[in-house]
Amino acid sequence: MSDLFIKNVVLENGKNSDILILNGKISDIGPSIKNVSGDIEIVDAKGWLATPPFIDSHFHLDATLSYGMPRVNQSGTLLEGISLWGELKPTVRFDDLVERAETLCRWSIARGTLAIRSHVDVSGNDLIGVEAMLYVKEKLKSYIDIQLVAFPQDGLLRSGCLENLKKALELGVEVVGGIPHFERTMQQGAESIRTLCEIAEKRGLLVDMHCDESDDPLSRHIETLTMETNRVGLNGRVAGSHLTSMHSMDNYYYSKLISLMLEANIGVIANPLINITLQGRHDTYPKRRGLTRVNEQMNEGLDVAFGHDCVMDPWYPLGSHDMLEVANMALHVAHMTGQSEMMDCFRAVTHNPAKIMHLENYGLTKGCSGDLVILQALDPIEALRLKPARLFVIKGGKIISTESPKLSKLKLGEEKFEIDFTKKDFSWKIK
Ligand code: FE2
Repeated sequence: MSDLFIKNVVLENGKNSDILILNGKISDIGPSIKNVSGDIEIVDAKGWLATPPFIDSHFHLDATLSYGMPRVNQSGTLLEGISLWGELKPTVRFDDLVERAETLCRWSIARGTLAIRSHVDVSGNDLIGVEAMLYVKEKLKSYIDIQLVAFPQDGLLRSGCLENLKKALELGVEVVGGIPHFERTMQQGAESIRTLCEIAEKRGLLVDMHCDESDDPLSRHIETLTMETNRVGLNGRVAGSHLTSMHSMDNYYYSKLISLMLEANIGVIANPLINITLQGRHDTYPKRRGLTRVNEQMNEGLDVAFGHDCVMDPWYPLGSHDMLEVANMALHVAHMTGQSEMMDCFRAVTHNPAKIMHLENYGLTKGCSGDLVILQALDPIEALRLKPARLFVIKGGKIISTESPKLSKLKLGEEKFEIDFTKKDFSWKIK
């Protein structure tokens, strides 16, 4: 834990501020902090934006960076991705899993993401993926918080992996996962939800299920998830990931469902990059977008977060684990280009996932952990527009990553220009 004085930042609310971190925690934040000890390390943020670190609330560290192994996903569908992962899974070794996950975590840190909720497959013949991810979690814990979810990728009942899932929880995995829409029948999907919620309740754990990742409007496992959440008393401790069938549901049923979700205080985790890529694949035209109704859910008062889900794996060939890219995609797909809507998208990769993941001491207020990112942008909307350099990434008052400011130098005849694409470049003032 370290001390650090960061002077001259602008905060998300547009206010100028300094930030003093002592013993790894924010000890003061506000304009013109005085009486800072002389030997403390100082960062001059030069008026750039400081935010709490980005959070990825839905990822798969065990599958990441495996693109093309053993072959690429030709159809681009979710189902071919699942079957490809099934081919790859028996061949992976502990060291490969660790190397790929560690590489991805280094990318995350460089992008200013300091917490990841990662699902880890427990439906194979062994728990090598769990063991590897627990190893990475422990090794990198000073730099990035990894929260693991026991995820029965091939279906809890369909693959018969209940004992593996329980073993994973005993080994230290802290969230119960599920995938009810991939079970053989609707009834088995409901049974899997019941079993998994009971396990979570007994062990005092959180729940995060891949739920209704489908274009089928009749995929309604979220309904059962809300009921079981209430029945076993997990209110506020359960998240539904994807929920893409809600995109295709009729409005009347949606209006009933949203009240059930509010009653159970379900967290919503959408995955815009992956949902726009995988959903609608069976459509001709018009093609559905497939993203769950994030704007409406936010307006109703649900906590909505965005996850990256995949980077270069059987389901998605692109990505560099940049949560600003995720939020940028979301605001396009969800028609959220209003100013307050874009701010909501920024919160969906910062404050909202912190709440859903029950992270403690998150934020830029006195007493919070000294974790933050300084971006080469003047406000969150500019950050969404530019996906700019992460100038400083700070964990517990320690600078753990730096990036040079981006600057293009033009020579147009005799005229020379330096461009950073921020509003500083404008010769006129816009709001
Ligand atoms: Fe996922």
